[in-house]
Amino acid sequence: MGTSRTALITGASSGIGRATALHLNDAGYRVIGTVRHQEDGAALVAGAAQPDMLIPVRCDVTNEHDVQAQAARVGEITGGVLDAMFSNAGIANMRGDVTAEGCPVATLDRMMQVNYLGAVRAIQAHLPMLRAARGTLVMNSALMACAWCASAPPPSERRWKPSRTPHPFPRTAPTPSSGPSCGEGLR
Ligand SMILES: NC(=O)c1ccc[n+]([C@@H]2O[C@H](COP(=O)([O-])OP(=O)(O)OC[C@H]3O[C@@H](n4cnc5c(N)ncnc54)[C@H](OP(=O)(O)O)[C@@H]3O)[C@@H](O)[C@H]2O)c1
Repeated sequence: MGTSRTALITGASSGIGRATALHLNDAGYRVIGTVRHQEDGAALVAGAAQPDMLIPVRCDVTNEHDVQAQAARVGEITGGVLDAMFSNAGIANMRGDVTAEGCPVATLDRMMQVNYLGAVRAIQAHLPMLRAARGTLVMNSALMACAWCASAPPPSERRWKPSRTPHPFPRTAPTPSSGPSCGEGLR
């Protein structure tokens, strides 16, 4: 299978990343799946249809040394030509208070370190190899949906049903005569 295309998937130990790694492996791709713990790498390979075509690499995207070592390993495996990268590693289930009022800055900081800067770090390290293949980059991330309208009531008073009070920014679609439409300003 020397001609197989190679896909790199970050965060392949569970969830969407693991499912994608196993799917692409089954479809004939050589898959490099990153994990933070060695045992997760073994479990990933154990679930693969073509175990010899699934290569786990240990990496924490918040760690510059890990990412550089990962990129060096990907370079060895692919000869510097990477067909696809799925930047997927991230924190999906935030625990604790994630409301606009109460979300600790430390939680937001961790999320930015992993979901934003971690993704940027990993992508930057592999872009030359992706460019060499004219490859595909797919991103999957979340920056949390805790940005409530400041005029909304606090969580303790929030009723999860439509309010009788008109929303300050009504969500009616603009008509051509009532506001700019998509594409205006580009002409
Ligand atoms: N599920 C959703 O509803 C949803 C919605 C919007 C966006 N997303 C985004 O989609 C992606 C996958 O979500 P999922 O539901 O499949 O979550 P998941 O099952 O928790 O998988 C997340 C993956 O990212 C890895 N990861 C976490 N922190 C990492 C770090 N510092 N360095 C390297 N890898 C790290 C995890 O490794 P460990 O097993 O070692 O923790 C795991 O492999 C995430 O980026 C998430 O933010 C998910």
